[in-house]
Amino acid sequence: MANMVTEGDTTALDSLLEKVYRDTGYDFREYKRGTVIRRLERRLHATGAETYLDYMQFLDAHPEECHKLTDDLTIKVSGFFRSPYTFRQVARLVLPELVAYKRKQDERKLRFWSTACARGEEPYSIAILLAKFLGNRRQDFNISIYATDISRQALGEAQAGIYSLKDIEGLPEAILENYFTRREDYEMRADIRQMVSFSCFDLTSTIRQPFVNLDCIFCCNVLIYLQSQLQERVLNMLYDSLATPGYLILGEVETPTSGLNEKLECLDIKAKIYKKNEGGR
Ligand SMILES: C[S@@+](CC[C@H](N)C(=O)[O-])C[C@H]1O[C@@H](n2cnc3c(N)ncnc32)[C@H](O)[C@@H]1O
Repeated sequence: MANMVTEGDTTALDSLLEKVYRDTGYDFREYKRGTVIRRLERRLHATGAETYLDYMQFLDAHPEECHKLTDDLTIKVSGFFRSPYTFRQVARLVLPELVAYKRKQDERKLRFWSTACARGEEPYSIAILLAKFLGNRRQDFNISIYATDISRQALGEAQAGIYSLKDIEGLPEAILENYFTRREDYEMRADIRQMVSFSCFDLTSTIRQPFVNLDCIFCCNVLIYLQSQLQERVLNMLYDSLATPGYLILGEVETPTSGLNEKLECLDIKAKIYKKNEGGR
């Protein structure tokens, strides 16, 4: 490519991201530039465009390219119990305390939110974790796991709940036996699927009202793609969505802004498990 784009080409990149936002509603303007540029380069290469301007013209002439671009920019790598340590710590530190609190309050609702659920691996892992933890006591609770993502394609696959051998690789036999039905592929069992409801939600949007009064929010492996100011805004929104007590799980990869420690109690520094207490920290 003769005119390979450079990181310094910010004005053209700004215009391109502005256009993507206008045309699709997907807003990548405050995503980390390094990742966006690397992903864009793949699309430029695939379409034969040499500059961002060329690529904008290509987008105008080929509206279907927009879909490929947004698909590339939303990185959907995930896995069941992706960070085993985090899920173990949720089972150890969060669930016993939360369930005991609910019992004491004579309250039956348990409300979870998986905020960037990709193809459903995370919310279904939460459902399995709850099913395992509660056992026969599951009937005592009215469990809602809201699972959202910006990618409609990922949500469609998540809703179907069908996974390949590669997707379930490494899962213990007992989990496969108890929570999946083996057909050609592996299908999530209906009682696990019923605990989860999927919908499209852009974490960075200020237009749609987020869920409120949640007992536990998972926001794993998505903040890393956002610039720090946007991370801060999303974290503030999630804080407001939590009930008291409420738990925020960021997982092992995120490095949240320091402001979080002022508002929340940190229960596990490695898995980044935080608790919202009555009257602040
Ligand atoms: C790397 S996956 C993480 C999936 C899962 N949380 C995990 O930890 O395995 C990142 C997900 O974030 C989603 N995503 C990216 N930007 C988003 C946004 N603004 N709002 C909601 N989801 C977003 C992507 O579509 C993708 O499914």
